[in-house]
Amino acid sequence: MWANIITVDGPSGAGKGAIATRLADLLGWHLLDSGALYRTTAHACARAGVELTDHQQVADIARHLQVEFLRSAEESVAVYLQGEDISRVIRSEEAGRGASAVGAMPAVRRALLERQRDFLRPPGLIADGRDMGTVVFPSAALKIFLVASVEERAQRRFRQLLALGENVTFARLLRDMEERDERDRSRSLSPLEPADDAVVIDSTATPIDAVLAKVMAEVNRVYSER
Ligand code: DC
Repeated sequence: MWANIITVDGPSGAGKGAIATRLADLLGWHLLDSGALYRTTAHACARAGVELTDHQQVADIARHLQVEFLRSAEESVAVYLQGEDISRVIRSEEAGRGASAVGAMPAVRRALLERQRDFLRPPGLIADGRDMGTVVFPSAALKIFLVASVEERAQRRFRQLLALGENVTFARLLRDMEERDERDRSRSLSPLEPADDAVVIDSTATPIDAVLAKVMAEVNRVYSER
């Protein structure tokens, strides 16, 4: 696999989406929002009446998803399922919980592996997720792992969800986020953890432009050495 890949992994609310989108724009590379694939799988299961306890059926849905991603000005990535724009519904907290549940199923992860690798096209790919650097693109030239305190991540998510018109309380969101972190970290296959060669950046109390500057310094370091 050729190596023009930068992976951006980390827990929910660490700023991966914002950093990955800006990097893709700055470098003119493609973007993979892998969380959207897991979110879309959970959404497609709900629509088809497939119970999340039936792992094989869920994996079947994942394998045959007719999903399309388009870059858009308002959303970093607009998501279409069978031609229908589902960008907003899959950003809800409920969809996030569903995504985390399907993401814990090894059969689903296997079903989505090649689909994710298919996003790699010239001139390069920015891959955003949980296991981009460890499992999906282990040969990536640069692996960023973004972290931030759970309180700050919950605050960021709270503001995003209020803007989407969702009725959530901060306390509930904080608890949900802690639970989701725990599930993503403790699953047996592809747990959320930095690759050994990842650069860990803490975005707590750091404006997005400053985080981007740190990431760009790493991009310049890696590509000037090549
Ligand atoms: O990045 P996100 O918040 O959209 O991801 C939603 C959930 O999807 C996350 O809690 C776990 C799952 N996920 C995953 O298991 N592996 C990925 N590469 C991306 C997301």
